[in-house]
Amino acid sequence: MLEEIRYEYYESVDSTNDRIKERAHDNEAQGLVISAGTQTAGKGRIGRKWESPTKDSVSTSLLLTPDDISLEAIPTITVVAAMAVRDALSNLYGLEGKIKWPNDIVLGGKKICGILTEMEMKDNKVWYVVVGIGVNVHNTQFPEEIAFKATSVDIELQKQSGEKGHRSEITKAIWESFQKYYNIFIKTQDMSGLKEEYERYLANLNERVRIEAQENSYEAIARGIDDRGQLIIEVDGQQQIISTGEVSVRGIYGYI
Ligand code: BTN
Repeated sequence: MLEEIRYEYYESVDSTNDRIKERAHDNEAQGLVISAGTQTAGKGRIGRKWESPTKDSVSTSLLLTPDDISLEAIPTITVVAAMAVRDALSNLYGLEGKIKWPNDIVLGGKKICGILTEMEMKDNKVWYVVVGIGVNVHNTQFPEEIAFKATSVDIELQKQSGEKGHRSEITKAIWESFQKYYNIFIKTQDMSGLKEEYERYLANLNERVRIEAQENSYEAIARGIDDRGQLIIEVDGQQQIISTGEVSVRGIYGYI
């Protein structure tokens, strides 16, 4: 169970994930959140960079030290974190994002956040897990290569109330929602208690998607997720399962 959350904020760090790792090595207890105004070496998935040079976005990471968690349950924590970001933006601002499996939150057809979960093993067991979340808040422009698929809280609010997002409020709301979902997840170490809600927000549910694997790409129908958070797809009437990290799934009409 994640019982309490303790917040620390720094103007600038290399990567909030790396700051949490350092604290884990100093035997910090679970529940520490480190957030930063800017990151000088923010990390994205698959070795990519995650730029956060201005104070326009939320960059925040949480330390977890789950007891006896199985290795196969770790990728599912990223799926749980996506639910938390979606829930927070809905509760705070009425922004009703969809989840692009496994863990992108999309608004207005574009991605608003990134999640990077990392972990370290010790004595053949999971020692600690870091959940790092970046949310675009005040950004109005993005680097050319991601501009077609990136949005921010302020851009989306501009279409509704004209209100502006608030970084510390978003950070707190995300981790409060995460605590709620994680404590359901950790009882069974799977999505059995959360699957129904996740699927309610899943983009492309029961629609055609394009599965882009390294060696080939094919069309399928997305049918939902299984208890591990893997995507259930249907190809030529046969159900198949695809794992997080394995492939990229797109709607057939663009980024989502
Ligand atoms: C992605 O590639 O979509 C994941 C991006 C994750 C970025 C966040 S920002 C806070 C935390 N610290 C990092 O260095 N990365 C994550």
